[in-house]
Amino acid sequence: MKRLAVFASGNGSNFQSIAEAIKSGKLEAEICLVVCDREDAYVLERAKLENIDSFSFSAKNYSNKTEYESEILEKLRQYEIEFIILAGYMRLIGPTLLQKYSQAIVNIHPSLLPSFPGKDAIGQAFDAGVKETGVTVHYVDDGMDTGPVIAQKAVPILEGDTKDILQKRIQEMEHDLYPSVLQELCHKKLT
Ligand code: GRF
Repeated sequence: MKRLAVFASGNGSNFQSIAEAIKSGKLEAEICLVVCDREDAYVLERAKLENIDSFSFSAKNYSNKTEYESEILEKLRQYEIEFIILAGYMRLIGPTLLQKYSQAIVNIHPSLLPSFPGKDAIGQAFDAGVKETGVTVHYVDDGMDTGPVIAQKAVPILEGDTKDILQKRIQEMEHDLYPSVLQELCHKKLT
């Protein structure tokens, strides 16, 4: 079983969908650790309910990214983590983690990259008036949502949609796509 760490900053619905996929046998892997940069994030509650250990930190208590990423790295070493799964983690990954986990960090982004990278991708697509947006799973490099694409699924924007309706449709797609891509990733079926 591949040993995963999920990095998140907020609600953690993607963490939950991965945990559910593991419980139902769709994803043969183990979430061994949740890493979170906000001590009040709901994902920490979810981790507790799932009996999964977490490490939370506050960046303001460190002098720079290298310092807190070194501490994260030590945790990942302790838990023998093989893959880092970003699921709503609102920080750029720095060289400390990228060097040790090259080709082993993935992210999910709520748009069809390279369209609408960065924050509020759903709002960006909605405001642009495009008819279609989507979800991308990609490897993480040192840019903002720039790494090689692993999988993409389109999501339509329908007449009468509000941003909230669109967000719900996109998240449903995320919850389906991410666990299945991770299953392929963990079993090296990715091309
Ligand atoms: C998701 O839409 C993901 O694509 C983006 O951040 C959001 C996290 O949502 N990177 P949640 O915390 O998993 O509910």
